[in-house]
Amino acid sequence: MAKERLDKVLGHLGVGTRKEIHRLARAGLITVDGEVITDSAFKFDPLQSRIEVDGEPLHYRAHFHLLLHKPAGYITSTKDRDGIPITALLPEEWTRDDWMPVGRLDKDTEGLLLLTTDGELLHRLTHPRWKVAKRYYAELAAPATPEDVAVFATGSIVLDGEALQPAELRLGADPRKVELVIHEGRYHQVKRMFAARGNQVLYLRRVAFGLLELPHDLEPGALRELSPEEINALYEAVGLEVQQ
Ligand code: URA
Repeated sequence: MAKERLDKVLGHLGVGTRKEIHRLARAGLITVDGEVITDSAFKFDPLQSRIEVDGEPLHYRAHFHLLLHKPAGYITSTKDRDGIPITALLPEEWTRDDWMPVGRLDKDTEGLLLLTTDGELLHRLTHPRWKVAKRYYAELAAPATPEDVAVFATGSIVLDGEALQPAELRLGADPRKVELVIHEGRYHQVKRMFAARGNQVLYLRRVAFGLLELPHDLEPGALRELSPEEINALYEAVGLEVQQ
């Protein structure tokens, strides 16, 4: 990796603002490979170096990924233009300005929403070519029918002039409470699919995205970091290698 400025690397790792990092450096609290670095413009390769701040080792990572249980009432955005953005749910230690949501959930939709800082990962996870499965739990105004199952499975629903890819509708004991697996992410897709069948979605929750399941113990509004195994699986699913 190319050499980077100390203040840039530490800012990326969430140590603080440039000003705060400058202060830490001036106070002699930052070491790189055991040497005290007082100049925050010092350049080094973060992948090849041991960094400590106030005696605590820092591990360099190119990107960060969070799994958020989005509650209803928040907009899938990082800017507070048309409502409260999902980034308002992030605790201070996770506040940064390069988060990107992976796909969109409507304001009234709950469930699994990934946030990443990796633009290429985001691009692939949301591109139809990679057919990443998204599973939704939906509560409907009227019972879903075996005919709905057949119509969704053939991909014969047309939205915005284009046929949808085949989708799997799973009927449970109560056909008003269903699961739907889709492999693309059109605007309001699930609601519009049921609307095309003369039905209406009353409640919607995304319960899985690719290999990731919404954890049962993750309350709405809560989040957790992805594990290294989950990150590997996610990158692998879209033909990418994890960047260190
Ligand atoms: N489909 C919808 O209609 N809304 C969502 O939020 C997600 C998928």
